[in-house]
Amino acid sequence: MATSLDAFKSNQEKQTIDASRKVRIGIIGTGWIAGSHMDSYLKQPDVEIVAGADIIPGKAEAFFKKYGLDNVKCYPSGEAMVNDKSLKLDAVSVCTYNRQHAPCAIQALNAGLHVLLEKPFTVTTEEAVEVMRAEKKSGKILSIGFQPRLDDNMKMVKAICESGVLGKIYYIQTGGGRRRGIPTPFGTSFIEDKTAGLGALADIGCYSLDMVLNAIGYPKPLTVSGYKSAYFGTDPNYSNYVATGHPEYAKLFGVDDFAAAFVRLKGGIILDFRIAWAMNMDTSGDTLIYGTKGGLRIPSTECWNGSIGGDLTIYHEVAGKQVETKIPMIHDRPGAPSNFDKKIRSFVDACKNGGEAPVPSSQILYNQAILDAIAQSSEKGREVKIVIPEI
Ligand SMILES: NC(=O)c1ccc[n+]([C@@H]2O[C@H](COP(=O)([O-])OP(=O)(O)OC[C@H]3O[C@@H](n4cnc5c(N)ncnc54)[C@H](O)[C@@H]3O)[C@@H](O)[C@H]2O)c1
Repeated sequence: MATSLDAFKSNQEKQTIDASRKVRIGIIGTGWIAGSHMDSYLKQPDVEIVAGADIIPGKAEAFFKKYGLDNVKCYPSGEAMVNDKSLKLDAVSVCTYNRQHAPCAIQALNAGLHVLLEKPFTVTTEEAVEVMRAEKKSGKILSIGFQPRLDDNMKMVKAICESGVLGKIYYIQTGGGRRRGIPTPFGTSFIEDKTAGLGALADIGCYSLDMVLNAIGYPKPLTVSGYKSAYFGTDPNYSNYVATGHPEYAKLFGVDDFAAAFVRLKGGIILDFRIAWAMNMDTSGDTLIYGTKGGLRIPSTECWNGSIGGDLTIYHEVAGKQVETKIPMIHDRPGAPSNFDKKIRSFVDACKNGGEAPVPSSQILYNQAILDAIAQSSEKGREVKIVIPEI
C-alpha cells in the first residue's frame, strides 16, 4: 500500500542516461557477488563489460558464458587484466574475497582505473590506508560496496538523525545476528583466514556499523574494547556443517563467528556493538539511538540487504508527555531498482561525471578501523586506541 512516505523515495527511476557515453568495465573475481554486479551492470544502457579475471583457471570464462558474453576477454589475475592497456578499461569491480581487496584495488588504481570495491573495505586499517594512498595518487573514484545505505529506509534513518529531532546523540546500540548462519554455501572463502581474514565482523558487522555511523556523519572512532570468538565455526558438530556433510570445515575455520565491542567515538558518543554468524539466541537486539530530545528504535535485521525489521519508532516528549511516533517502513514499488542496482548506477554516474564517490573511502576507513581494533583488542585482552596514519 502506498504511504505518504512515498514522496521520500529516491527519483533514480526517472533518471535519464546518456547511452552514447559508455563506461568500459572489467570484473576482478568471478564468484558469487560478481554475479550481482553483472546483473546490475547489464541493466545499464551505458556500460560495456569488456574483461574479467579470476585466479581459478577457467572460472572467469565459464562465468561470462553463463551471461551469453563470449567476447569478454578473460585473464588469470586482476593484475594482468588492469595492466592490459589495449582493453581501454575505465573502471573495475573488485569482487575478490577480503584478503585480495587491497592488492586488487591498489593495482587497479595504479593502472588509472576507477574502482568499485566490495565490502568490507579491507581486512586491516593499514591496508585501507594503502588503498587510500593509491586512490589519492590516481585521482580516480574509489567507492566501497555498501548498498544498504542507498535504501530509502536507511536514508530515512539518516534524515531523522540529521533533523535534530533526537537532540544530541550520545549512545548507540547496534549489531545483528543469525542463530545458525555461517556462510559456506559456495565453499570456504568466508571462513578461512587466508581468504577472509575476518568473519562475521567483516561479513555483516560492517553493515550494522555503516547504518549508524553514516546516519550520524561518521565521527572518528577513538578507542575500542573488543571481543571475538569462534565456538560454532570450529565445532565439527555445528548443525549446518552436519546438514551439508562438511564437518571438515571446522578445521579450516580461522575467523570470528561472534564479536562484541564498546567503542568511543569523537563527540562523546558511545557505540555498543555485537554481531553473530551463529548464537543460541533469536536476536542480537534492535538498533537503538539515544538522544537528549528523542530516541530512535530500528527493528533488528541482518541489514546487508538494506531492509529494516519493521516500522521505526521515535520516543520523545511532547507538551510534557512521553509519546511515541511511528515512522512506517518504506516498501519499494514493484520493478524499482534494487539497492544493488543503485550501487552500480551511482558508481557508473561517478565514473562519468566525477565528484565524490557514492560511498567514500574517507568514511569507510573509520568502519574498517573499528573492525580491525575489535580484532586487536580481543587478542590483547584490553582496550586499544585507534591510530590512523596520514594518507
Ligand atoms: N555487497 C554485498 O552484499 C556482498 C555480498 C556477498 C559478498 N560480498 C563481498 O564480496 C567479496 C567476494 O565474495 P564472494 O561471495 O563473491 O566470494 P567468492 O569466493 O565466491 O569469490 C571471490 C573470487 O575472487 C577470486 N579471486 C581472488 N583473488 C583474485 C585475484 N587476485 N584476481 C582475480 N580473481 C581473484 C577467487 O578465485 C573467487 O573466484 C567478499 O569480500 C564479500 O564480503 C558482498
